[in-house]
Order: sequence, then C-alpha cells, then structure tokens
Amino acid sequence: MAPHRNHRNPAVNLNLNVRGMTPSATVAINERCDELRRQNRKIYKLGLGQSPFPVPGPVVEKLRTNAFQKDYLPVKGLFELRRAVAEYYRRSQGLQFTWNNVLVGPGSKELMFLLQLVYYGDLVIPTPSWVSYAPQAHMLGRQVQWVPTSPEHDWHLTPDQLAELCAADPSRPRIVVLNYPSNPTGSTYSVSQLKELAGVAREYRVVLLSDEIYGELHHKGQHVSVARFYPEGTIVSGGLSKWCGAGGWRLGVFSIPTSLTWLQDAIAAAASETYTSTSAPIQYAAVRAFEGGLEIERYLWHSRRVLGALGRWCAHRLTEAGISVTKPQGAFYLFADFTRLRDRLVERGIDSSVALCSTLLEETGVAILPGTDFGRPPEELTARLAYVDFDGARALAAAEHKPIDTPLGETFLREQAGAVIEAIDIIANWCDQAHPGPR
Ligand SMILES: Cc1ncc(COP(=O)(O)O)c(C=O)c1O
Repeated sequence: MAPHRNHRNPAVNLNLNVRGMTPSATVAINERCDELRRQNRKIYKLGLGQSPFPVPGPVVEKLRTNAFQKDYLPVKGLFELRRAVAEYYRRSQGLQFTWNNVLVGPGSKELMFLLQLVYYGDLVIPTPSWVSYAPQAHMLGRQVQWVPTSPEHDWHLTPDQLAELCAADPSRPRIVVLNYPSNPTGSTYSVSQLKELAGVAREYRVVLLSDEIYGELHHKGQHVSVARFYPEGTIVSGGLSKWCGAGGWRLGVFSIPTSLTWLQDAIAAAASETYTSTSAPIQYAAVRAFEGGLEIERYLWHSRRVLGALGRWCAHRLTEAGISVTKPQGAFYLFADFTRLRDRLVERGIDSSVALCSTLLEETGVAILPGTDFGRPPEELTARLAYVDFDGARALAAAEHKPIDTPLGETFLREQAGAVIEAIDIIANWCDQAHPGPR
C-alpha cells in the first residue's frame, strides 16, 4: 500500500523566534469583523487603523501616467523621490537633509525591520505603542526594553524615564522609538518635551527612531520633528500610508543623518538581497505627493479638519460616559481607559482588556483593540479606537463646502461619519450600564 501522504510531508521546523507568532492583532480583528458581517451582524470597524481618505487626485494621476515604468530602480530609491523627500523635510521642518540622506522602501514597516536587523542593540519602546515594533524585535532575537507610560503624562515617555533607563547601563547600544502623533493614543509631544528628550538622547548617544508617519495628520498642522533638536542621532520615519491615504501602495521613507550613513548603507545592503527595490510606478507617483502644492495642502487641511472635529466629538462623548481619553491631537486614534468603570465591568465578568473588547464586539458589534496589543498589562482596562469607519472621499467633498472658519459640528459629523458616531454612542451606552455614578 502506498504510504499515507502525510508521511512524506516535511516535518514542521520553525525558527524559534517566530514559533507561536500569529498575524498582527489589527489584521486578526479585521478578519473577525468580516466573519461576523458574513453572519449578517452589523459591525462597526474601529479596529483597523487605515486612513479613510482617498489618495489625492494629482498623486493618482501621476501613478496612472507612470504605470509603464518597469525597470528596477536603485535600492536606496529613485533619485527624484529622494530629492523630493529631502526638500519636503527642509520646507516643512527646516531639516538639513539632502537626497543622500533619504532611503526609500516598500513601507516604513519594512525599513524598521531592516534597521533592527542591521543594528546591534536593544529596542526601547514606550508603551502603549504601535503593534509591530516588538514582534519585529522578537523575530530578530533582539532585546526589547519596555517603558510603561501613564495617563497622567498623556501616555508620553518622560525625559526622566529615558534618563533613568539609559543611566542604568550608559554604554549599551539602543534604538529608542518615539511615535507621535501617536498610534494608539492620538496625542503628541510639545516642543519643550521634544527638546528635553532630545537632550537625554544626545547625552547617551542613543539612536532615536522617530516614527512620524502621522506627522501631517497633526490636527492643527503643527507637527514638529524631534530631529530639529537631535539631528545627528535621529532617523525620521515617514511615508505615504497615512497622510496620503495610500497604505496599500507600500511606500515608506527613512531620512537618516549623515552621521548614521553606516546604518543607511547596511540597510540598503540588506534590502538589495531581499526586496531589491521599491515598486517603480509608486515611487514616481510619490514624487508628486512629496512635492506638495496647493491641491495637496487643501486635501490635508480638510483631512485634518474632519479628523480633528470627529476626534474631539468622540473624546467628549466617551468622557461623559466615564471613560478617560487623552485629548486627540493627531492621527485618527483614541486610547480609552475604562479603569473608572472597573467595578461594574468586573461584575459583568470583564477583568481584562481582551475580555472588554471581545464582550463589546459580541454584545454590540463594535470592534476595538485591547490595550494588551499595544504592550499594556492584560488587567488594565484600556483599548484603542480608530475613528475611521466612514467614507473619507464623501466627507472631504462635504467639508470643502463648509466655510473654512466654521467648525464642523455634530450635524456634519452625523451625516458624514454616522457609523463612527453611532459606534461611540453604543460604547457610551454600553458603559452606562457599568457607570458608577447616578444614571
Ligand atoms: C505608528 C505606525 N508606524 C508605522 C506604520 C507602518 O506604516 P507603513 O505603511 O509605512 O509600513 C504604521 C501603520 O499602521 C503605524 O501605525
């Protein structure tokens, strides 16, 4: 008898660093939502952090006219794009980058992975933080040093925390991640905080990885790069995914100071042996995005206006319901802290952020992500809400017709982002059953 098929399959032999890894939390929640939708449940997708807005018209047009570009491009990126990115940082932040400092990749996530691959040192991550920094470190067998932040400090890394950590082992090589406006909190650092953090980073000669992918989505358009205060040690990470609504295009950029050229060259060498170069048509189109101009400024102005109004409305409604949220200042996230409702929630069997989010999803159809996915302790009742479940193209078109000196009020938000408003109302009412105060 022929041997059973399975007997001939290769045995399961996985690298220990990836054994037990599951797809990223954001992808998992999305799949669960789709499953529930297939069961005809009404689902509010506040889990996945994707821009609701379309790619600006001129950038799409540039992609269309460059679809024919078929050659491999240089591993560090198309010259015109590298130059456009350097000019963008000079114009918007006064940073002294030239085209030589810019490295283009297929998403900033991939560039961060390669940075960790080539740099030999620890990764310092303030929590709560974006879901992928730590898994990347684990895949590569790097040490992660978590720095828990607190709501009293708006979930910010404080200069004292950084100093304490560095002083404990001053010569240890480290990459310190700063991400602002932040995923998952939507808050950002003030200029004085950035200056102080930069001072500590300089003292201990750490490499700062400043993930500024949401910089252009500062709700007031006032993003400041920490590279202004620590230019020689800061890698500024950015890309098209968030402000340009082009996550699926996969284009990220690192701007790396000349003092860290050795890192740029090592990343490029690793890139040349893995992805070779970034998609050619996308790079040509990205030149247009980084060149900016009136049409793009207008798009950004209205994107910020819609996000700012919606974020403020959501934060206000949640606060009324007894949930603590940091003031939204950028991006499209809120980090909700349900601690004040703990007693009532525990009575309902909810004693962890995972239980909180899964019960909320099953009982109400609202999908949000538990604080554990962002490095918070399991028993802490925190969660991230991404307020993006709306038609961004429609909202932008409607915002254009509102006088620019008029704030976008609740009527506008209900018309344009009805599902988000409804979802927040649902969370607030759901919590009201758990609210300690008078009903
Ligand atoms: C904080 C943060 N950094 C980086 C990324 C990755 O962006 P990219 O699409 O450039 O890989 C994301 C995407 O979700 C993010 O939220």
